[in-house]
Amino acid sequence: MMIPVILCGGTGSRLWPLSREAYPKQFLPLAGSQTMLQATALRLDGLAGVQAPILVCNENHRFAAAEQLQEVDRAAQSILLEPCARNTAPAIALAALAAVEQGDDPMLLVLPADHVVADDEGFRKAVTAATALAESGHLVTFGIVPTSPETGYGYIRSGDAVAEGWKVAEFVEKPDLATAEKYLASGEYNWNSGMFLFRASRYLEELAQHHPDMLEACRAAFAGAQRDLDFTRIDAEAFSRCPSDSVDYAVMEKTESAAVVPMQAGWSDVGSWSALWELAERDENENLLRGDVLAEDASGCLVHGGDRLVGILGVKDLVVVDTDDALMVADKSRVQEVKTLVQRLKQSN
Ligand code: GDD
Ligand code: MG
Repeated sequence: MMIPVILCGGTGSRLWPLSREAYPKQFLPLAGSQTMLQATALRLDGLAGVQAPILVCNENHRFAAAEQLQEVDRAAQSILLEPCARNTAPAIALAALAAVEQGDDPMLLVLPADHVVADDEGFRKAVTAATALAESGHLVTFGIVPTSPETGYGYIRSGDAVAEGWKVAEFVEKPDLATAEKYLASGEYNWNSGMFLFRASRYLEELAQHHPDMLEACRAAFAGAQRDLDFTRIDAEAFSRCPSDSVDYAVMEKTESAAVVPMQAGWSDVGSWSALWELAERDENENLLRGDVLAEDASGCLVHGGDRLVGILGVKDLVVVDTDDALMVADKSRVQEVKTLVQRLKQSN
């Protein structure tokens, strides 16, 4: 038995101004007609032994999450609402506690709600291949062949072969640029896709070992949860005392039971405007133009228009994103820094 755990509590601040606090990346149709959350849910169709997912999101996004699943005719088995963000390690702990509460010890397929996977079949193949490893107690991550020294990812060095994958010899979350370049050049590392497969009890055991304070806070917060129609509202007071950390730092870097299974599925984390430009189909001038856009003598640009007409002339490699209340113009090579704009905006508010 396998329960998908869809993590949709992130902020996606590098895709500002389209991705906002009220509507972060996972709730937007960034790479097609479905929102990224919807595409994540639909990708599970045809996966053997899979149950309805558990969603973990921020309380403020409860209606977006529930409605978007309904729109594609899918239902969650529960939607866990976090009163505040504590990053992914506690979010997964809450889902694991909800899963074992039912008496079984299912496998959890942890999925970020904001990734693009071009080849759904490739995704399902990798998950199926990972099942035996997860059943035997491993914490399986899915490895992606790296193409650049990206510093926003986890890096995995494979050790001995085991079942359909490898033991993880080393897991390094978000290395600095020099280290990432070294890893890339060595050819020995994969990127961590941010998807995981493990038994619920195994995750809780690892957390008990490496982060007992976090597990205790999550237990208290889950025990105090209030059921409210389809929603499970996590106890605010107890959860506010939970330390904040990602699963990558809190568990994957530390566990001795990590394994990696390769995934070939046209994966992209779409972490920035340039990543979206790279993966989308562009016109003959290498422009990606969405909305009502007039482009003259322009190349390599991404324009995401809103309700009004946007014109660009004589420019190269620009990103222009127009929304009702904000317009952003950036050099395409600098879009990783968009989150500094968001930080300044928060400070001034
Ligand atoms: N429920 C909940 N609560 N979800 C969260 C929270 C939270 O507090 N914080 C983040 N998420 C969700 C995000 O919406 C996203 O779907 C997923 O968890 C991963 O979080 P990110 O914040 O996007 O992580 P990252 O991109 O920096 O790094 C992770 O993904 C990389 C690949 O994209 C790591 O796993 C890296 O190792 C990995 O390479
Ligand atoms: Mg991410």
